[in-house]
Amino acid sequence: MDKQHVPVITLDGPSASGKGTIARLVARALGFHYLDSGALYRLVALAAMKRDIEADDEKSIVDIARHLGASFSDTMILLDGEDVSGRVRSEACGEYASRIAQYPALRVELLERQRGFRQLPGLVADGRDMGSVIFPDASLKIYLTASAEERASRRHKQLMEKGINASIAELVRSLRERDERDGSRAASPLQKCEDAQLLDTTGLGIDQVVSRVLGMYAETRQS
Ligand code: DC
Repeated sequence: MDKQHVPVITLDGPSASGKGTIARLVARALGFHYLDSGALYRLVALAAMKRDIEADDEKSIVDIARHLGASFSDTMILLDGEDVSGRVRSEACGEYASRIAQYPALRVELLERQRGFRQLPGLVADGRDMGSVIFPDASLKIYLTASAEERASRRHKQLMEKGINASIAELVRSLRERDERDGSRAASPLQKCEDAQLLDTTGLGIDQVVSRVLGMYAETRQS
């Protein structure tokens, strides 16, 4: 199938910018498919951690990605059929994912898998390089961000809801460190590409952000 005519909305941005929540709700509102590309990196990380593979063992990591038994449902993230939705969201898994995401061979390995999500009637994809590398011809590219303090406080709230204790200062530190690593790596660094529209969500509620994105998409359909 020629996928060029399948509309794609990309949402890129730093950790805890709310991309996942917003992308999921926008996809639901439009009846589009949803790609959580970070979950793929996290699944590779989890599979490697389970096998006690060190994050610097690039060859084994790429091999894991090649044979990754990843699947997604509306509510679950599965690794080889096992529900790992909670485990892939852990800080340890995110940290490991951010380390291995710098390997160009891993990114190449995951490229076609990500493009495979482009199916009718459309796709909302979130990550770091959705607009710049994976779907450069997307209909709408958004770079979603918020201050590190606001992102840390959102993550803190999520963790507390799950009964996990965390210090806000430590979360700010770890988010800044991850931003630095994701933004400074040579392979597909986190960046706002020229044709992406900046959406700073500091101080905005989820509903406000979703309706802004839907409004931006409606505008692209008129032009
Ligand atoms: O979005 P997230 O926090 O679930 O992503 C986890 C890590 O995966 C993140 O630190 C960087 C990496 N990642 C990436 O390099 N490219 C993507 N498209 C998505 C995630």
